[in-house]
Amino acid sequence: MKVRVGVLGYGTIGARVADAIAKQPDMVLIGVSKRTPDYRAEAAVRRGYALFVPKNSIPAFEEYGISVAGSVEDLLRQVDVIVDATPKGVGAKNKPLYQQFGVKAVFEGGEKHEVAGVSFVAQCNYEEALDKQFVRVVSCNTTGLCRTLGALDGKYGVEHVFAVIIRRARDPDKADTKGVINTVVLDPVSIPSHHAPDVRTVLKHLPIVTTAVKVPTTYMHVHAIMVLLRNPPSNVESVIETFEEAPRIIVRGSREGIVSTATALGYVRELGRLRDDLYEILVLRESITLKGNRLYYTQFVHQEADVIPENIDAIRAITSLSDRESSIRTTNQTLSILDR
Ligand SMILES: NC(=O)c1ccc[n+]([C@@H]2O[C@H](COP(=O)([O-])OP(=O)(O)OC[C@H]3O[C@@H](n4cnc5c(N)ncnc54)[C@H](OP(=O)(O)O)[C@@H]3O)[C@@H](O)[C@H]2O)c1
Repeated sequence: MKVRVGVLGYGTIGARVADAIAKQPDMVLIGVSKRTPDYRAEAAVRRGYALFVPKNSIPAFEEYGISVAGSVEDLLRQVDVIVDATPKGVGAKNKPLYQQFGVKAVFEGGEKHEVAGVSFVAQCNYEEALDKQFVRVVSCNTTGLCRTLGALDGKYGVEHVFAVIIRRARDPDKADTKGVINTVVLDPVSIPSHHAPDVRTVLKHLPIVTTAVKVPTTYMHVHAIMVLLRNPPSNVESVIETFEEAPRIIVRGSREGIVSTATALGYVRELGRLRDDLYEILVLRESITLKGNRLYYTQFVHQEADVIPENIDAIRAITSLSDRESSIRTTNQTLSILDR
């Protein structure tokens, strides 16, 4: 039997998660929920998704000419799992509703760890989420850090991490709203930024310090990372092998002409993915440098995309649909994620 899933909040993340759910052989997308009738609502209906809206928004949708399948409560009555992709803090407010309707929920990284008690990156801690009512998929940056650091920790042991996070200021579709223009903003000035404690909600023992700045760009975060390894390998090729063996990490560089976020975007466009989504963490080959037990590398994180496969695996984990390996394999196949 297929798991019935709904998506509440159909924005940057929600729309992508809905498309990914629709591709899964073991899930059925019952519908999506949006508050405001606009181009995204119109596109959801054109994609054939049933639209459920708050009761007081129904007249506005009717006036716009968008047909509505029912209310948010109607959606909750029909699903086993809801993915809450509303803005930061709204998910926590919605949680009592999910408890009332007895549905399982996947929250996003804008929520605090406490909203679910389990923070999730499939390749690091899939089993922790098995059969839970609630799970939180961590933020895009935390997902990126956990993927590569988890792989390194599993192979060599990590003694310490320092990471500089260069953040895109806004998502592309929100570039016209308040943003960062002609400046670099320390986000925050104090160290660590919130990313280090967030990584430890998944990799609990990892000694990590992070600092973050925001720059005037809309596509991708860049992480410059230094790791002290407990049992370092003798050469960089072993590190590349470790990254390539792990799911959802790819190593690219000047050989492929990828030396910037712009050329990474060019690459993804040529892959022909919907919305130019890079689900994988892209580690720059030439940045990988080993000096004794100190490893340095730089990686690109597509903020709108890397958490999408994690949402799909989180749904499988909380419904105990499958084990870690088969879930990751199915998700990767359906989203055409590169295996190296
Ligand atoms: N954007 C990223 O790069 C990114 C990356 C990783 C994780 N996340 C996390 O993912 C979550 C969603 O972020 P997003 O960027 O996708 O947000 P978004 O693009 O702003 O979309 C939010 C959606 O939620 C709806 N919404 C807003 N307020 C609501 C409310 N009070 N009640 C119900 N629905 C409401 C909006 O509806 P209307 O538009 O119809 O009003 C919209 O469909 C956040 O936790 C965020 O931290 C975001």
